[in-house]
Amino acid sequence: PRLPSGLPWVGQGLEYRKDPLGFFLRYAGAGAVVRTRFVGTAVYLLNTSDAIEHVLVKNFRNYPKDAFQKRALEAVVGQGLFTSHGDVWMRRRRMMQPAFHKQLLAAHGSVAVRAANTWLESRREGESFDAYPEMMALTLDVVAGTLFGADLSARARELGRAMEAVMLHAQFLFDTPLPLPAWVPTPGQRRFQAALRTLHAVVDDVVEVRRRQGGPGDDLLGLLLEAQAGEGEPLTDAQLRDECLTLMIAGHETTAAALALSLWLLARHPEAEAALRRELATVLGGREPTVADLPSLPYCEQVVKESLRLYPPAWGMSRVAEAADRMDSVLVPAGTVVAWSQWALHRDARHFPEPEAFRPERWADGLERRLPRFAYCPFGGGPRLCIGAGSALMVIRLVLATLLQRFHFDAGPGPAPEVLPAITLRPKGGIPLTPRNVSLR
Ligand code: HEM
Repeated sequence: PRLPSGLPWVGQGLEYRKDPLGFFLRYAGAGAVVRTRFVGTAVYLLNTSDAIEHVLVKNFRNYPKDAFQKRALEAVVGQGLFTSHGDVWMRRRRMMQPAFHKQLLAAHGSVAVRAANTWLESRREGESFDAYPEMMALTLDVVAGTLFGADLSARARELGRAMEAVMLHAQFLFDTPLPLPAWVPTPGQRRFQAALRTLHAVVDDVVEVRRRQGGPGDDLLGLLLEAQAGEGEPLTDAQLRDECLTLMIAGHETTAAALALSLWLLARHPEAEAALRRELATVLGGREPTVADLPSLPYCEQVVKESLRLYPPAWGMSRVAEAADRMDSVLVPAGTVVAWSQWALHRDARHFPEPEAFRPERWADGLERRLPRFAYCPFGGGPRLCIGAGSALMVIRLVLATLLQRFHFDAGPGPAPEVLPAITLRPKGGIPLTPRNVSLR
C-alpha cells in the first residue's frame, strides 16, 4: 500500500479534492491510522473498525464534529442536533429520540406506502423518468409526512430548488479553506441566503399551521413544540426551525439516493429482481405492504443492505480530537481531524469478497453479526448513530416493495451511474429508468 507523500504543510488536500472516493480507497490498506495533511490541518485516516470504534464509542466525548463539517453545516442548520456536542447535543437527542420509537415507525411506514402509491399514479408504462429527482420528490413527501404530519407536495418544486442551492453552498463552504465572511454579498452568498429564506418560510408555515390546528403530540414537530412550551431551557423559534430543517435535510437526500440507486441495481440484476419479486408475490400477493410484513421479507432487507454497502449515501465521516489521544499506538495530537469513509470500508475484500459485485445473498445467514462492528456502517454508530436509521430502513423497504409490485424498471445498457461524493453521495448524471408493467398473477 502506498503511503501519502505530498508537499509539506500543503499535504494531500489537492489529491483529496481531485477524487475523494479514490483517495480513501488508495490509503485503505496503508495502516490502521494514516497520517495526511490538508493545507495546515492534520487529517488522520482511519481504516479499521477498532479505530473508528475508539472515536465513535469508547472515547466519544473527546471527538466532536470538526471545523470542516461545522463550517458547512452550521451555515445551514445552526447549532443543533447534527452539529452540536456534549450537553447541548445530549439534550436535543433526548428531546427528539421519542419521535423515532418503534411504535411510531408503523405510522412512518404507512406514510411511505401512501407516498409511493401517489408517485405511482403519475407514472405510465413506457415513459422514462430520471430516478434521482423522482425519488427526491417521493422522499420529500415521506419526510414531510413523518416528521411534521404535513403535505408539502404543492411546494415540492420550490423546496427542491432551494434545498439544492443550500446544499451546493454548504459543499462550497466545505471545500473552501478560507471562505469570505458570510456578510460579504457575493452572488453565491445572495443565492444561498435567498434559498435559505425559502426553506425557513416553508418550515415557519408548517409550524404556524400546527400551532393553530394542533396535531399529533408524538411526531418530531409535536415533541419540539412541547419542549418549547415546557420548563427548563426552551428552544427559541429559530432553534426549533433549525432542528426541523436539520431533520428534513438529513432524511431527504440520503433516502432518495438510496432508493434511486436500489432501483437501478435491481434493474440491472435480473436474478436479484426476480428473487425479490418472488418474495413479494408469496408474502403480499399484490396487496400493499405494511410494517408488519417486513420480517417476512428478508430478501428485500438484503437488497437494501447491499445497496447501502455499494452506495452509502453518507460516504464519509469525520471528527476532531479535542485533547491529544493515542490510537493503535499512533499519537493523535489535539486538533487533529480524524476521517474515514464508508465507501472504502464497504469495499474491503476481506469482509466482502468481490466487493464491487451486487450480491444481496451475502447478507443471508447473519453476515452483519459476524462482521467487526464498523466494517459496515451506513448509518454511523455509537451514541450518534443516525437518529433516522430505523425509519429510513423501513421506508426504503416499503417503497421498493410498493414500486416493484407494480413495475419492472428497465435501465437499458450503459455503464453504472457515476456518483458525486458531495455532502451526501448522489448520482452525478441522470439515472433514466423506464417502467414496464408486471403481472403478479
Ligand atoms: C446522522 C446516514 C436517513 C436524520 C447520520 C449519520 C449517518 C447518517 C452516517 C451519522 C453522522 C455523524 O455522526 O457524523 C443516513 C443515511 C440515511 C439517513 C444513509 C438514509 C439512507 C436519515 C433520516 C433522518 C436522519 C430519514 C431523519 C428523519 C439524522 C440526524 C442525524 C443523522 C438528525 C444526527 C444525529 C446525531 O448527531 O445525534 N445519518 N441517514 N437520517 N441522521 Fe441520518
